[in-house]
Amino acid sequence: MSAAAFGTSDFIVVANRLPVDVEKAPDGTLIWKESPGGLVTALKPILSARNGAWVGWPGAPDVGDGPIDGEDMLLVPVKLSAQEVEEHYEGFSNGSLWPLYHDVIVKPEYHREWWNTYVEVNRRFAEETARVAAEGATVWVQDYQLQLVPKMLRMLRPDVKIGFFLHIPFPPVELFMQMPWRREIIEGILGADLVGFHLPGGAQNFLYLANKLAGYSTSKSSIGVRSKFGVVTVGFRSVRVGAFPISIDSAELAATARLPETRKRARTLRKELGDPEKIMLGVDRLDYTKGIDVRLRAIGELYQEGRLDPERHIFVQLATPSRERVESYRAMRDDIELQVGRINGNFGRIGRPAIHYIHRPVPRRELLAFFAASDVMLVTPLRDGMNLVAKEYIACRTDSSGALVLSEFTGAAAELRQAYQCNPHDLEGVKNAIDEAVHQDPEDGRRRIRAMRRQVLQFDVDRWARSFLQTLAGTVDETRA
Ligand code: ADP
Ligand code: F6P
Repeated sequence: MSAAAFGTSDFIVVANRLPVDVEKAPDGTLIWKESPGGLVTALKPILSARNGAWVGWPGAPDVGDGPIDGEDMLLVPVKLSAQEVEEHYEGFSNGSLWPLYHDVIVKPEYHREWWNTYVEVNRRFAEETARVAAEGATVWVQDYQLQLVPKMLRMLRPDVKIGFFLHIPFPPVELFMQMPWRREIIEGILGADLVGFHLPGGAQNFLYLANKLAGYSTSKSSIGVRSKFGVVTVGFRSVRVGAFPISIDSAELAATARLPETRKRARTLRKELGDPEKIMLGVDRLDYTKGIDVRLRAIGELYQEGRLDPERHIFVQLATPSRERVESYRAMRDDIELQVGRINGNFGRIGRPAIHYIHRPVPRRELLAFFAASDVMLVTPLRDGMNLVAKEYIACRTDSSGALVLSEFTGAAAELRQAYQCNPHDLEGVKNAIDEAVHQDPEDGRRRIRAMRRQVLQFDVDRWARSFLQTLAGTVDETRA
């Protein structure tokens, strides 16, 4: 640790990943790349603006010797061994917690050695944070990989203010009760001064468990959105619990989508795709929660039934590789690639596939050109805490054209009411929503997009962070929604 970094940061984000991942080139040099996922997309602009510190894992084993002075933030790497990555990240975080919190879409596995490493790695994050935090600093701990950090950090540094935000759904009480270390997790989170969820339902579930599992007294009235916070009394402390739906840097996205070069690239993309009548688009990490298989099945059947025409209605799926060493992710990739091959085999022709599938991350600018070029966005998760992609698409529809098909099981569905909403477990319902969106009346479509744009532009990521941080600082007016 450089002396400059020791105890100097007033505002610290603690997240499993740093905003950049490191990769080792064959010659041993380190290459830094933007890391994947919604958390980084949301938090990077906030931390850059505040010149704070980011404590996180650099995305590869055995990397990270001391803080790095980034352009607009201090990066504090937490070094993890290969075994810790396997047991904390791939194991307990993504083999136990992730499926449990996403409605057990795949069966969670519970192993004592994974749990022990989760505790150990959480301790390492807490210690690293305790070292960089200035007296009285504000520390914002992120997500399910670090649920024990708030309590551990409080024990090390009772002077700091601690916020915790969960970026994924908090599960129904009946499912959470499966967790063998359920009480430890609730106690860990309760080390924070403020605990935030995307939706009031998740906050309410947590409040119930704080009372029933951990025995603390809790407030009884219902929790609102950015208002009417719940309270858990933990000894002499009051822990507030609230709903703060995350968002995107909408104005920046809209401005970039409006740029002549983005529009030009969008036109070129349409041409490269053979100037079809309608382009449908999916953009996701390749994750079994995202329902990529659901939309492929729906499109395949719509082609089969002649409700969509593979010559005129094509589908582009951009899929970022994710958690590739976890077995359930490997199996899902095989399944999706089989489906893509089958549909193209049945409905494509030489030089004219019906489905275009890219299995790598797309640069940000190119992604916005895809949003601008596409007529129908397909967001069909079986469960998703928020889903920023849905909001990004809306922000990029600067001329109010386009359509959004959106699963009811995303956090975004609570805000984007004018989307073509569907139940991803009901295949006929998904097909009907896609059919309606592709064949929508243009004026009705514009009315829907305009209403959603108002929502996304007003409630942006800055508003999300401000409402959370002001509540944490105790300066928010609780009566204002
Ligand atoms: P999650 O946090 O589960 O990955 P979100 O939809 O909330 O899901 O956030 C995903 C973020 O990653 C968005 O900002 C999105 O634009 C970005 N992203 C997803 N897929 C790709 C891709 N194929 N290429 C580039 N960026 C992507
Ligand atoms: O929000 C869910 C989450 O795990 C985030 O923490 C992260 O931004 C994203 O998904 C990507 O996941 P991973 O860090 O496992 O690649």
